Amino acid sequence: MKSFLQEVSIGLSKKNKELSSKWFYDFRGSKLFEKITKLKTYYPTRTERKILKDNKIEIAYKIGRKAVIIEPGAGDFKKVAIFLDSLDKPKKYIPLDISEDYINKISQSFKKKFPKIAITPKGYDFSRNNKLPFKINSSENIIIFFPGSTIGNFEEKDAVKFLKMLKSKFKAKKIIIGADLVKDIPTLITAYDDKKGVTAKFNKNILRRINTELGADINLNSYKHLAIYNKQKKRIEMRLKSKKINNIRINGSNYLIKKNEEIHTENSHKYTIKSFKNLVNKAGWKISKTWLDDNKLFSVHCLSLI
Ligand code: AVJ
Repeated sequence: MKSFLQEVSIGLSKKNKELSSKWFYDFRGSKLFEKITKLKTYYPTRTERKILKDNKIEIAYKIGRKAVIIEPGAGDFKKVAIFLDSLDKPKKYIPLDISEDYINKISQSFKKKFPKIAITPKGYDFSRNNKLPFKINSSENIIIFFPGSTIGNFEEKDAVKFLKMLKSKFKAKKIIIGADLVKDIPTLITAYDDKKGVTAKFNKNILRRINTELGADINLNSYKHLAIYNKQKKRIEMRLKSKKINNIRINGSNYLIKKNEEIHTENSHKYTIKSFKNLVNKAGWKISKTWLDDNKLFSVHCLSLI
């Protein structure tokens, strides 16, 4: 696993410069993302919550008895809380996050809210293929909860790898997963390029981290936030476009950014029911149920083993 410094220097040395969206999420980035989820134009979070609410009984039924719920990258507990009370004798809820401190901290008050279910937060980094921080008993009813269309950040082959790993390593029996849907382009663009500039700040947070953590001196104002829809790949791409010639100096190395050159920072894939079905099928899963909102903006699926 490469460090932030290593990944940044590799990404900025490429012909087509890129930085991974996983670096958005330090404390400030997580706060900015929370702010994004409250924007009128950012429909995914609100819509997914409504889908979970409207269908919680059926979702609980699909999850079944004595579930062990594992949530990768559990940022807040608002979504799982929607159906937790409807479950039949849930056994355990294991929220996972890259930061152990963070997940332990935010779990405290949640434990008080749901005293009847065992809540055991763990630190776990999915991008490193390391040992699980808890014991898996493959005879248990292991359910992965992966909301938010976080799967959309992965390129197809990585998404397939991830979904396969949930089966082979986590022994998951089912997955409850959110996936954002293909829709008209203006709705997509405004969701990722809001007037208040919150998404722009979120995007530039990666540059701010390069300054504070790697000692660079990037002027954030010399980059422009871009959100474009790649029709062919059916995804929103976020980029940072350099308004002038920039030289980024990190740790004694120089990275020259030409005027109008772009640094690719995020992919957010959009699916049709069919393309999502094809994706999960490649990983050995099938869709056993799909829930949508009335406007068909977002989808939540229950996957089971093929
Ligand atoms: C957290 C990956 C689901 O792709 O919509 C929000 C991140 N990027 N605005 C998304 C994001 C810009 C978000 N995910």
